[in-house]
Amino acid sequence: MKWGVFDSGVGGLTVVHALKELLPDDPLDYLGDTARVPYGIRSVETVRRYAREAAEFLAGRGADGLIVACNTASALALDVFCDLFPGPVLGVVEPGVQEALAATASGRVGVIGTPATIRSDAYGRRLRELRPGIEVHSAACPLFVPLAEEGWTDGEIPALVAERYLAPLRAHGIDALVLGCTHYPLLAATIARTMGAGVSLVDSAAAVARAAAAHEGKPLAPAGRGALRDGGLLRPGRDRIFVTDPGGSFRGVADRFLGAPLPEPEVAVLGPHA
Ligand code: DGL
Repeated sequence: MKWGVFDSGVGGLTVVHALKELLPDDPLDYLGDTARVPYGIRSVETVRRYAREAAEFLAGRGADGLIVACNTASALALDVFCDLFPGPVLGVVEPGVQEALAATASGRVGVIGTPATIRSDAYGRRLRELRPGIEVHSAACPLFVPLAEEGWTDGEIPALVAERYLAPLRAHGIDALVLGCTHYPLLAATIARTMGAGVSLVDSAAAVARAAAAHEGKPLAPAGRGALRDGGLLRPGRDRIFVTDPGGSFRGVADRFLGAPLPEPEVAVLGPHA
């Protein structure tokens, strides 16, 4: 089945990577709203307006299913995508919540994300709905986004930033931590070191890719097969990358997020002028 994958920018390529590992033959259209990233510091109304335009674009390209890879858009506007997209829509919140519930033994869970995601409490609300009495401790970690884009994912500076953000969560004695932002899987090693051995990290990119594979009911490709088959994860022609602004540092950053070379991006025009 053909997937549309949406993110506010390059971050959703971590989801594309995870998806291609599991479903290497499924074609996809990726849309990154690089002209308007970051979403994580914007108002609910603005993110919902952007979501409407993205949903219309991807629906117009004939994808069978839609993955909202962006945590901020999933947390604030999943219903907008569901209303405007004719096929199944998978956000990252539900799969992340399910994996967090499976991972926690203590019933104390942490959630980190952009300021908008944390303010929305989308993860916390769903965790408490499914397991009343669960303790959810959340923290916005806005500096993780530019650190990941700069490639500063390891070393002294990310370790200091992680300590500052995560020490309060560690003090609450959580045993599972949801990486509720597309960018955070790149910082997983630093986050894991900061939290210590007893804390499982829940990668919402991997979680939504597993949800997509489960949706199709297909036998999963062995790990790494997608990368090996084509000499690259994405195949030009079959897989298309759309961005709203192809300039800036998109290419260099995108290769790092995907973990593989990227096909030439095409320009998407969103909104009433599309
Ligand atoms: N993609 C966003 C998310 O997962 C992070 C970047 C942004 O703020 O737009 O929440």
